[in-house]
Amino acid sequence: MLELRHTEVRYGKRTSVSDLSLQVHAGEIVTLVGGNGAGKTTTLKAISGLQPVARGEIWFCGERIDALAPHQILAKGLAHVPEGRMLFKDMSVQAHLELGSVRASAHALSFNDTLAWVFDLFPVLKERSKQLAGTLSGGQQQMLAIARGLMSQPRLLMLDEPSLGLAPIVVDTLADIIRTLHANGLSILLVEQRVDLALQLAQRAYVMESGQVTLSGAAADLARDPQVRQAYLGLSL
Ligand SMILES: Nc1ncnc2c1ncn2[C@@H]1O[C@H](COP(=O)(O)OP(=O)(O)OP(=O)(O)O)[C@@H](O)[C@H]1O
Ligand SMILES: [Mg+2]
Repeated sequence: MLELRHTEVRYGKRTSVSDLSLQVHAGEIVTLVGGNGAGKTTTLKAISGLQPVARGEIWFCGERIDALAPHQILAKGLAHVPEGRMLFKDMSVQAHLELGSVRASAHALSFNDTLAWVFDLFPVLKERSKQLAGTLSGGQQQMLAIARGLMSQPRLLMLDEPSLGLAPIVVDTLADIIRTLHANGLSILLVEQRVDLALQLAQRAYVMESGQVTLSGAAADLARDPQVRQAYLGLSL
């Protein structure tokens, strides 16, 4: 469904991601794991068209997308929930969801049906639909960021650090929502600092270091890998 082939991404002269190849198959949760500055966010930005690709190719559902604008990529069914959520604090929940639906693909459900589906997943957003985003709790803001992404009815959802700054109980709710979305057939590319959780949720994982993939495989295998356990799970060998 999604394939990166030898992708390189630069900020000015500086190469942040190089020779990166990865795939997400239809119906999979794939996680991208790595330390601070490894290039995870940069990779997601390159996929969604927010950062230009200097070399290599990105393909989505049989089409090459690496030269397209972000709104065109979104319209093809690839949504990105950014690190830090990027909400407008003076805009209501409902207005965020309307904005999220602007690039819904032509064969999508109606706005009202999509909204009903999203409210079903996130009842708290329905209760608070008129509230300004800035007045929501951190967990509710993350739910809103995901809900906004879902309003475009993506085929693939990319989540960048969804659990960041959230209380453990909220992280559990979020994990349940990710499982539900996956059970509904959505493909997910997950970047998550809670590596233990990411490896539980995902079927496959890629480990990135200094802008390159250093290890990849079944998530269950990587969770048992001594190198991964030591570097990312805080466990000794
Ligand atoms: N806007 C930018 N301009 C210049 N360099 C950047 C920019 N954003 C990121 N970088 C650099 O690119 C590299 C990869 O950063 P990136 O944010 O992709 O890492 P990350 O894996 O998402 O890290 P984190 O876990 O901290 O979110 C880092 O060296 C970072 O300093
Ligand atoms: Mg990041």
